[in-house]
Amino acid sequence: MRMRKKKHAAERLAACENLILPLSVHEADYRKAEENPTYYDIAEIFGNENPLHLEIGCGKGQFICELAKRNPDINYIAIEVCDDVAVLACERVKEAKLNNVRFMVCGAEYILKYFKQSTIDRIYLNFSCPYPKARYAKHRLTSPIFLPMYKKLLKNGGEIHQKTDNMHFFEYSIERYSELGFRMQNVSLDLHKSGFEGNIVTEYEQRFLDLGQPIYRLEAVNIKE
Ligand SMILES: C[S@@+](CC[C@H](N)C(=O)[O-])C[C@H]1O[C@@H](n2cnc3c(N)ncnc32)[C@H](O)[C@@H]1O
Repeated sequence: MRMRKKKHAAERLAACENLILPLSVHEADYRKAEENPTYYDIAEIFGNENPLHLEIGCGKGQFICELAKRNPDINYIAIEVCDDVAVLACERVKEAKLNNVRFMVCGAEYILKYFKQSTIDRIYLNFSCPYPKARYAKHRLTSPIFLPMYKKLLKNGGEIHQKTDNMHFFEYSIERYSELGFRMQNVSLDLHKSGFEGNIVTEYEQRFLDLGQPIYRLEAVNIKE
């Protein structure tokens, strides 16, 4: 996502500190993150035992904000690697006075450091960068780097809800889900003509809708052996 540098992003993030979860020092190699866990105490953070849903790559937060408003009995953690974008999402949630959303401002590569296995009910991937060039494929949020992490963290029957405008990325993701034994359901090749109810339009989704492009969507269910 190309953004003009937001003025004083660090100061503005600091003003939202109650919403931002602390990060430990990250290992240079994300593959070692799991070896030195500093797990969040989710019940303490939210003050309840409600289900936990993540959004990875939340952008400016339009989706997570509306989702959290509609579902006050679900806890949400939104992860965004780019400070300049994350600050807008944090400010939006602060303004809306939502107490069921927190943020992690870091790359999703490190999630195994912070969450215990089989504790997450759902993960949202909305318009994740498709990284079309093969040499950047590992950065795709459904690559074999990320999917095994989600599989560990999701409960049995936990779901990944993915939307994208990119058919090739959609196909790629379906192949990766299949390889790991996820069961796919509610697959749509044109979400907005599918009769699907309750969709929350993200910032990127609105751009593609304005261009008349179809939106691809699926739910991948985690089946643990
Ligand atoms: C194309 S934007 C989509 C934003 C938003 N989900 C939407 O639909 O409008 C993708 C977002 O994912 C973030 N992102 C990319 N790789 C990430 C990673 N490894 N961890 C966390 N966020 C990431 C980017 O910074 C960007 O904000």
